[in-house]
Amino acid sequence: MNFVRRNVGNAMRPNAPVRNLRPAAVIAILLGASLLAGFQGPGTEPHRPSPSLPRSPEEKTILSVLDAMAKSGGTYLSVPEADGKALRVLTEGANAQSVVEIGTSTGYSGLWFCLALRDTGGHLATFEIDHERAETARENFRKAGVEKMVTVVEGDAHQQIAKLKAPIDVVFIDADKSGYLDYLKKLEPLVRPGGLILAHNVDMVPDYVRAVTANRDLETIFYMQGGGLAVTLKKK
Ligand SMILES: C[S@@+](CC[C@H](N)C(=O)[O-])C[C@H]1O[C@@H](n2cnc3c(N)ncnc32)[C@H](O)[C@@H]1O
Repeated sequence: MNFVRRNVGNAMRPNAPVRNLRPAAVIAILLGASLLAGFQGPGTEPHRPSPSLPRSPEEKTILSVLDAMAKSGGTYLSVPEADGKALRVLTEGANAQSVVEIGTSTGYSGLWFCLALRDTGGHLATFEIDHERAETARENFRKAGVEKMVTVVEGDAHQQIAKLKAPIDVVFIDADKSGYLDYLKKLEPLVRPGGLILAHNVDMVPDYVRAVTANRDLETIFYMQGGGLAVTLKKK
C-alpha cells in the first residue's frame, strides 16, 4: 500500500524531476518509449498463419485455386487467409455435415470450407445476391473440383434462407452488415445444439455482438487474427 501511495505522490508533486526536463529531452524520451513500444522481440510477434500443406492431390488443387484467386485479385471482400484457415479448422473440428454461408462473393471462403467438407463428407449451401459473383464462384468451385459439395443459391439471402431445414452444423454470416441480426434470428433455431454460428467483421456489427453475448443459450469468443470472427457455440 505504501509503495503505491508513494508512487502516486511523486507523480503529482510539483517538483517531480520530469517537470524540469527541457522540451527536447521530453520529446526524445517519448520518441524512445514509442519506438520501444513498437518493438516486439522474438516470441512476442503475432502468429502468422502457417502454410497449408496438402495431404492429397485433391487438397492441392483446392489450395492452388485459393492461391491463384488471392494472387490474381480474383476475390471480392473475401476473408483473409487467417480467417479462411479458421473456418476450415472449426468446420472440420465440428465434423460438420451441413454448412450454410451467407455471402459467397467469388467463393474464396467457400473453398476453405470445402477443404474441411472433403474430410467430413458434408455439404455447403452458400447464398449470394450478385449474379456475376455467384457465376464466378461456381467457376472457381468447378476449377477446384468441389462443385458437387457446394450449392450456390442466388438471390436475397434474407428470403432464400427460409427454405433451409435443420439441422445445420455451421453457419457463417459474411454479407450485409445491417442484416446480421436478421440472419441470426432466422438461422439460430436451425443450428443443432453443439453447432457453431460464425460471423465476420464483428467490429462492424455491435448489435449482433450484443445479441450473441446476452443470450444464455450461446457462448461466444472472438478470434481477431484476421478480419474479426465471432465464434458462437449453441450450447447443448
Ligand atoms: C464480404 S463479401 C463475402 C465474402 C466471402 N464470404 C469470402 O470470404 O470469399 C459479401 C457478399 O455478400 C453479398 N450479399 C450482400 N447482401 C446480400 C444478401 N442480402 N443476400 C445474399 N448475398 C448478399 C455481396 O454481394 C457480397 O458478395
